Amino acid sequence: PETVAAMSDTVAKLKKERNAVILAHVYQRPEVQDVADFVGDSLQLAQQAAKTDADVIVFCGVHFMAESAAILSPDKIVLLPEENAGCPMADMVTADALRKRKAEIPGVQVVAYVNTSAAVKAECDICCTSANALKVVSALPEDRPILFVPDRNLGDWITKQTGREMHLWEGYCNTHDRLSVDDIERAKAAHPDAEVLVHPECQPEVVAKADFVASTTGLIRYALESSRKSFIIATEEGVLHPLRKQAPEKDFHLAARTLICPNMKSTSLEKVVWSLQEMRPRITVDPVIREKALQSLERMLAIV
Ligand code: 13P
Ligand code: SF4
Repeated sequence: PETVAAMSDTVAKLKKERNAVILAHVYQRPEVQDVADFVGDSLQLAQQAAKTDADVIVFCGVHFMAESAAILSPDKIVLLPEENAGCPMADMVTADALRKRKAEIPGVQVVAYVNTSAAVKAECDICCTSANALKVVSALPEDRPILFVPDRNLGDWITKQTGREMHLWEGYCNTHDRLSVDDIERAKAAHPDAEVLVHPECQPEVVAKADFVASTTGLIRYALESSRKSFIIATEEGVLHPLRKQAPEKDFHLAARTLICPNMKSTSLEKVVWSLQEMRPRITVDPVIREKALQSLERMLAIV
């Protein structure tokens, strides 16, 4: 088998040949993050996908992220090295089910977390990510009800922070939702001086235990800037890579060993090489759906 260094060199060579840019979410494997041109959270990756002048976007993340890139940059080739990398939470709301729910709430405005399919984005009014959710929801007109899909935990956090009541969907992220208050208490007992940093996809009782709540990039920024030395991290373990690289003098403890998203980890360096060689699997979006989904994404990007 080829070494990581050899595969990384091959990726660099192919990237030049194809005029490709590699975007990676911070939940990706360390060696995949290290070959990326840009590593970030969902919002930053969408912003990068919208502005890149590369011909090819290799998306090291999950399906909805590559789809958003294809919506924002329709003239580019968007590759998702592991075609089966999905997001179970995104699959918890379909366009059909959303249309039915909308019909039950007259005058409703729908906010869709970007963790949704293009077809669901096409049915909503505006998108958000965990990084800009408070801003997006606060900017909505106050005279109409809000339906937030699909993450009930993020929705609960937004309501508590903004005071805006919302109809919530029964969706959740398997990886974050299974973290328990007991896990946090155990981690605190083991590391009493640590600050507890929590992603809002965690359950409300877990979020209530946090010293700081934010998107992945927000959590990383906070930990780097804090004067504290020790941190309990309640989000996917991929963030440990940039944290330990950028702050080797600090201690980062994952709140539980279960904080691993199998879909995010299914992209390997081998698959990135193969994808650039073969120029597949390619992610495309139906033009009619794309047009509507683009409006929801652009409304979000105009706010942040
Ligand atoms: P952010 O990148 O917005 O923090 O979202 C976390 C996540 O679960 C992405 O799938
Ligand atoms: Fe989906 Fe959760 Fe994995 Fe993010 S971490 S891709 S929300 S399952």
